[in-house]
Amino acid sequence: MLMRQKSQPNVEPETKPTGSYPRTRMRRLRQKGWIREMVAEHSLSVSDLVWPVFITEGKNQSEAIKSMPGVERRSIDLTIKALKEAHDNGIQAAALFPVVPEENKTMDGREALNPDNLMCRAIREIKNALPDMGIITDVALDPYTTHGHDGLVEDGKILNDQTVDILYQQSLAQAQAGADIIAPSDMMDGRIGAIRDSLENDGFHDTMILSYAAKYASSFYGPFRDAVGSGAHLKSDKKTYQMNPANADEALREVALDISEGADMVMIKPGLPYLDIIHRVKETFKIPTFAYHVSGEYAMLKAAAEYGCLDYDQALFETMLAFKRAGADGVFTYAAPDIAKTLQKKSAKG
Ligand code: PBG
Repeated sequence: MLMRQKSQPNVEPETKPTGSYPRTRMRRLRQKGWIREMVAEHSLSVSDLVWPVFITEGKNQSEAIKSMPGVERRSIDLTIKALKEAHDNGIQAAALFPVVPEENKTMDGREALNPDNLMCRAIREIKNALPDMGIITDVALDPYTTHGHDGLVEDGKILNDQTVDILYQQSLAQAQAGADIIAPSDMMDGRIGAIRDSLENDGFHDTMILSYAAKYASSFYGPFRDAVGSGAHLKSDKKTYQMNPANADEALREVALDISEGADMVMIKPGLPYLDIIHRVKETFKIPTFAYHVSGEYAMLKAAAEYGCLDYDQALFETMLAFKRAGADGVFTYAAPDIAKTLQKKSAKG
């Protein structure tokens, strides 16, 4: 028995570290910057970043968002200016979020379907000015409703199928305006299939869908709700449609469904507290997988830096690498322009 085992070829992968100290010293590969970089397993590139931006009505308007230091709401003209600069710094895609004027909000969010609404005008004008910038648009009703929910509400209940009937029309309006990627963030069941079918039927075969497949009911969205002005309207939570933070297997079921319905890419949201989900989704499905470094995560870094607790740029870069290590192909982050600058400095240093 022992003999036979010995004569068999060694099928154990040679990659397993078998050495021991002092012949093996792990620190040898860490002694200089050049060798650390040469053996780095993961890296961050500016093309991994998507910059989410908030758009308001008007001309030459920009206003700070108190809970998101360094982030502004901008009118379309100033958004184009900011995106041009970001594009010059290597950022290739932006995610648009409209700040809808109060007078355009209704119970049913019908402004979402207006082909001349703020979102659709922004898409057209940005595409016109910056045809090479990838434009990703949010599909959900919360910026347009007087109750701040992502779907239609009846007797306090969020209606699924009736909402899906609106969401596919909202998606079509965005595709017609020129959106490259439709990104439904509403978490209704069956919306990816309905959106994909209507895009196909209307000739938008090439419009991509990035599904917010595993979106958790998270307290880290607080600053975003301030930014788009939906927070003050929202009187209850979103726990009947967004996922329970206690669940992980359920995220795999969500992703599987969305892929079967026609999603090209999937999103996990929030980001840093859900690295395990990113990792499992990527391992299981091998599909382009995105992380959303959400408003609350961004605000925490800013606040900690402001308080003198940590270095913002370094902590940010480490956070982005963590996403890449977990398996994310790309990251949505409000800090994209800051990271682009850090990457430029790094490459200038050589
Ligand atoms: C709503 C939407 C939210 C975010 C993106 N789209 C908030 C929510 O679900 O209430 C959050 C983004 C962030 O916090 O940065 N459809």
